[in-house]
Amino acid sequence: MTTSIKTVSTQPFEGQKPGTSGLRKRVKIFQQPHYTENFIQAILDSIPKSEGGAVGATLVVGGDGRYYLDEVLQVIVKLSAAAGVSKLIVGKDGIVSTPAVSHLIRQRKATGGILLTASHNPGGPDNDFGIKYNMSNGGPAPENVTNQIYEITKTIKEYKTADVPKVDFSQLGTQRAGDLVIEVIDGVTDYIDMLKSIFDFDAIKDFFNSNKNYKVLFDGMNGVTGPYGYRLFVEELGLPESSVMRFKPLPDFGGAHPDPNLTYAHDLVERVNNEGYDFGAASDGDGDRNMIIGGNHAFVTPSDSVAIIAHYAKDAIPYFKKNGVHGLARSMPTSLALDLVAKKQGLEHFEVPTGWKFFGNLMDAKRCSICGEESFGTGSDHIREKDGVWAIMAWISIIAFVNKQSPGSSVHDILQKHYNIYGRNFFSRYDYEDVEGKGADDMVSRLSEKINSGEWIGKSFGGFQVKTMDNFSYNDPIDGSVSNGQGIRIIFEDTSRIVVRLSGTGSQGATVRLYVEKYSSNPAEYANATQEALKPLIDVALELSQLESYTGRKEPTVIT
Ligand code: G6P
Ligand code: ZN
Repeated sequence: MTTSIKTVSTQPFEGQKPGTSGLRKRVKIFQQPHYTENFIQAILDSIPKSEGGAVGATLVVGGDGRYYLDEVLQVIVKLSAAAGVSKLIVGKDGIVSTPAVSHLIRQRKATGGILLTASHNPGGPDNDFGIKYNMSNGGPAPENVTNQIYEITKTIKEYKTADVPKVDFSQLGTQRAGDLVIEVIDGVTDYIDMLKSIFDFDAIKDFFNSNKNYKVLFDGMNGVTGPYGYRLFVEELGLPESSVMRFKPLPDFGGAHPDPNLTYAHDLVERVNNEGYDFGAASDGDGDRNMIIGGNHAFVTPSDSVAIIAHYAKDAIPYFKKNGVHGLARSMPTSLALDLVAKKQGLEHFEVPTGWKFFGNLMDAKRCSICGEESFGTGSDHIREKDGVWAIMAWISIIAFVNKQSPGSSVHDILQKHYNIYGRNFFSRYDYEDVEGKGADDMVSRLSEKINSGEWIGKSFGGFQVKTMDNFSYNDPIDGSVSNGQGIRIIFEDTSRIVVRLSGTGSQGATVRLYVEKYSSNPAEYANATQEALKPLIDVALELSQLESYTGRKEPTVIT
């Protein structure tokens, strides 16, 4: 079959620079004529030769079901067909969670994948869309590739599109668009099979069978993980349908902000606390984030979550029993709780910049098996993305394991048990969203000057004595690449820390993130409320950063 291929003249658009996780913009921006085409062409032209390039490539394509997905899928078909891509593996209706795309890329030995999501950002005509490229290892494209994409978008003059009919993604099976083969798959099945190879489903079922009153509530937040959660909890583990909520993916997430934290997953939190649930969990729009809570207001901070998973991994999760745990890693702002586990277990541990892509090299080199970020991301080397449903299953495995030894152990009990072994790293993050860019930049510049002058070193503020101060720089031990300017750190003598950085994922204005962490090894403090425990340090952070005068904000938009 000969397909006619058209060369379309175009002009560069400003700002097509992929951020921490791809290009995220308002839908209206993507809707401008040629905007999406330019970016997809830049992606296709940037698939590295070492990964095989676009000609003859197999690409996995999936998204979180958000508004504008259908249109972008058709663009990908037309441009891929024109670029000589051999095959697209696409989820039914274009829906596949981010971790499931990562798994499919690896399982099918694909060239890479295109993910259509703005993660946890709200969706709908007035909200966000996003496009991200992942490599053959299943992980987000590294900076050399995203920089290449950006360079192309700055000079692009034309793109090539194939004149092929509209593809119907609601039909499972294989179709063709010219020479391009399109395989539409059920994006849930392979992923659930993968989970079965990682976790002990029988042990989990035993736990639920012998604890009939144990109530679980999973919140899909109207994002992509609803069908995954339903299949898992209701069909596989046999829990009642009341164990899942908001499990239907909606293009605008039902108007909700699909970010699993105490603010945006408020409905889940309310129900768990008011309706006597023992365990609650949520995932974000595209399924890579997670939040874990327990009955009676127990909240597992993501920093504690990864530490606790690492602590129990080899006992509670067959995947780690079999493969071992090679090393642990966390992003720089994430609390040091994970380091304490690594030290106790004699494991290597790494501190990387914010952004899941930094874990990939370590995993490929078998130096890291479990990793996490304070931004509600937890995962392991089973894939190269963070994995919300995996983290939830890890927690259920831990609960089943701990309850076998100590029946009746709640999420709260597991937290306290952990603190009694390692001490507690109190941690909180304050977000100031959509602030004016200049004020935020000036604030960071002033802190950089303080680093250069060294004038705060040795001084005490509110009883906290500054030990060191820097702008975090990461030297990747695998490929030797250096990432500078990853966030201001003020580290105190007692290991407490203040971190200030600007978000790399916002789609509007600047977002300032302020992270505070304080360690306690006093058992009398382990059950204290986080905000109260951190109050003195938060005051110091606000004073040192002069955040209010630079941003004009008295209060953060979100506290996690
Ligand atoms: C995404 C990335 C994470 C990152 C988070 C926050 O979820 O995948 O790796 O930690 O965004 O990034 P930001 O730059 O907004 O703090
Ligand atoms: Zn996400």
